[in-house]
Amino acid sequence: MKTLDLGGLGLDRGGHLLVRRALAEVDVGGRVQVEGADPALGVHLRAWARGRGHGFEPGPPPIVIRTSLEDQRWSGAVAAGDAARPSERASASWGLAARGARVEAGLAPLEFPLATRDQIWTDDAARLYARAAAAQWDPETAIDWGAPFELPDAVETAVVQVMTYLIENEVAALIVPARFLARIHPHFREILQILAVQAADEARHIEVFTRRALLKRPAPGLSTVGGQTSLRTLLEEPDFALASFLLSVLGEGSFLSLLWFLAEHGPDPITRQITTLAAQDEARHVAFGLSHLQHHAEREPGLRARMANAVEQRFAALQHTAGLNEEVFDALVLLAAGSWEPGAIARGFDAVVALRQDMDRGRRTRLARLGFDAEEAERLSSLHTRNFM
Ligand SMILES: [Fe+2]
Ligand SMILES: [Fe+2]
Repeated sequence: MKTLDLGGLGLDRGGHLLVRRALAEVDVGGRVQVEGADPALGVHLRAWARGRGHGFEPGPPPIVIRTSLEDQRWSGAVAAGDAARPSERASASWGLAARGARVEAGLAPLEFPLATRDQIWTDDAARLYARAAAAQWDPETAIDWGAPFELPDAVETAVVQVMTYLIENEVAALIVPARFLARIHPHFREILQILAVQAADEARHIEVFTRRALLKRPAPGLSTVGGQTSLRTLLEEPDFALASFLLSVLGEGSFLSLLWFLAEHGPDPITRQITTLAAQDEARHVAFGLSHLQHHAEREPGLRARMANAVEQRFAALQHTAGLNEEVFDALVLLAAGSWEPGAIARGFDAVVALRQDMDRGRRTRLARLGFDAEEAERLSSLHTRNFM
């Protein structure tokens, strides 16, 4: 018979760990004699042993007899897939378990609507997440908020108007991935991680654009029905693939051009810094959208038709709205012009025309990467919302 000496250690201070270890070293039916100085040892040991289905003899010294009940507890356990590679379909019976963990039988199923690999996965997921995590920046220290600058009143107003527009677009870009995040089975943890960091990116964008808007003014500018109606169609898209397509590939793709434009033409150093940093983040959001949609499109031949249909439907829904409002368009022209001088306004106007061409080129390139032919890409790009996002 095996003997275990607990010395002064009671079961109320961790002694059960040693008892369990000793029991694991004997076969079922084997006996472990437990010695120790704790006066409550016998009482505690009896309760512990009975609670786990082990036999008990009061002694002294008390003896615990190993039964197989504790082993049986894990005999019905299932593996939550393979730790190294996500399964084709994640089971509701795995719940929140780590990928590859053993899940005790009897867990109530936890349903996640997005639970198949084809719908959400990309083999780039781990790499994209690591890149995003490494590229986080602190708005407080990454931006030189105290940089001195003086702008004509109307140019400052234009900057504030553009920031106001950016903020509401960033809010939509935060809400859409955050909503889908909660619907994806946690077995695909890299996808959850990517979307969580993406939401954190958007939170930073909202912060820096708000700080710039309020740097010299007590309140932001104007929010239009046309702009908000466009964003609303993104919030209302229930399908993950289609929402990613409209938001990340077409919307954030177009926004990349806009942020580069502001990084180049921004009339003050802070506007240029914040849009440069935001553009770096947005490039990752676009890359993830493209990556999982490419993966998805290879496996679902009908996806491209559904994507085209989503663009057409959104176009129809927004047909009677103003699209990119005059307020933002004019603000972009003035911001790029930097002054009211007619020659400067002409240059600003040309820059905004070039911006729209750049957006269109970018959309067509990305559509081609998703397998659309040039003609279809041109048509779909032209139907994209005039609000840019
Ligand atoms: Fe953003
Ligand atoms: Fe984004």
